[in-house]
Amino acid sequence: MTTSQPAADPATLPSSAAPAAITAPAHAREIPFSRPSLSALETRAVATALRTARIGGNGPICKRVQQKIASQLGVRHALLAPNATQAMEMGLLALGIGPGDEVLMPSFAFVSQANAILQRGATPVFCEIDPATMNMDAADAAKRVGPRTKLVMPVHYGGVPADLDALGKLAADHKLALYEDAAQAFGSTWNGKPVGAIGRAGCVSFHETKNVTSGEGGALLTNDDEFARRCELIQEKGTNRAAFLRGEVDKYTWVSPGGSYVMSDLLAALLEVQVQRAAALQKSRFSLWQTYYTGLADLEQKGFLKRPVVPAQAKHNAHTFWFRTSTPQQQRKLLAHLNGVGIQARFHFQPLHASPYARQTLKLAQSLPITEREADCLVRLPLHAQVRKRDAQWVVEETRKALASA
Ligand SMILES: Cc1ncc(COP(=O)(O)O)c(C=O)c1O
Repeated sequence: MTTSQPAADPATLPSSAAPAAITAPAHAREIPFSRPSLSALETRAVATALRTARIGGNGPICKRVQQKIASQLGVRHALLAPNATQAMEMGLLALGIGPGDEVLMPSFAFVSQANAILQRGATPVFCEIDPATMNMDAADAAKRVGPRTKLVMPVHYGGVPADLDALGKLAADHKLALYEDAAQAFGSTWNGKPVGAIGRAGCVSFHETKNVTSGEGGALLTNDDEFARRCELIQEKGTNRAAFLRGEVDKYTWVSPGGSYVMSDLLAALLEVQVQRAAALQKSRFSLWQTYYTGLADLEQKGFLKRPVVPAQAKHNAHTFWFRTSTPQQQRKLLAHLNGVGIQARFHFQPLHASPYARQTLKLAQSLPITEREADCLVRLPLHAQVRKRDAQWVVEETRKALASA
């Protein structure tokens, strides 16, 4: 069961934003960009955790959920964290990334990634993307490898995996580690294997905008036992508390650098239900993704937009439906139109190399023309359990009207 939004009266939609010729059909309503799908099952699980006082960090519920995620995805280790940002920070510490090191990453990425690299005293080296997927371009990244490069860090944008064959080869050729920002890609696969654990490790996010959510939350995934062991120490403030809880040592103490990167059992209780519902949630997202994809085919044929390309090796999790308009002006016009009629469409990411922090504080004067051009044309459409098929069809219609009149 999902909670539903009351339908907005089309008469109350802001008249200034919508062109006069376009009126929302009777079924139209305010369509939020993103909304978690929560049911009575999540309420019950959280209430049970509260009643039994299971609210601390890395407790029995976390352990159970970690095992469920690991077995569902087919990875050896899933370590729950407060969010993907902190899972990423933990991973970079475990990889030994430090001052003077360089990390290859797309500029078209979430800011957490660049922050995590800078926190280690390392330098993010921003690379171009392949516009077909908006993911890191391995050929461009190869040109930026230098003597200080230590790590390749792709993003799987919108849940569609980056080219892990090419990026894996790049990492192997230059003896670099591969760490995946799979924050948006829980359940996506590359050559049948779960992303996030194809390189040395990776992170996934359970933020409220993600397919499977605990409001805030994340996990570090890896198939590398030794790496997982290092993370286990870092996660628990640099102590061997996890070994102590397993009865492997009689006291726990400070054994490594660390932080506090554990999830609360209260949130893990919510996440457990979401993980159990993952396949059903995925199915409904995928069906909407497909409605957008097929609905916009003719607009691509007429040259108004370009839809995402899913590589043959990839299975995506329908996290986001995005496309690119042919000009930035069309993007702005379309976003204004859709938002004006009550459809929350969005841009994002804004290229990091061109951000105020990169330009003014880091004094970066880099130009990445493909990233700049494509990010300025990007449009994301609402995609979540409360968007009905006819809503998606209406979104397609409004997109068609706005682009055809542009
Ligand atoms: C690609 C990417 N990386 C990292 C993050 C950070 O995730 P979290 O909010 O769980 O820290 C996000 C969040 O949206 C993201 O989209």
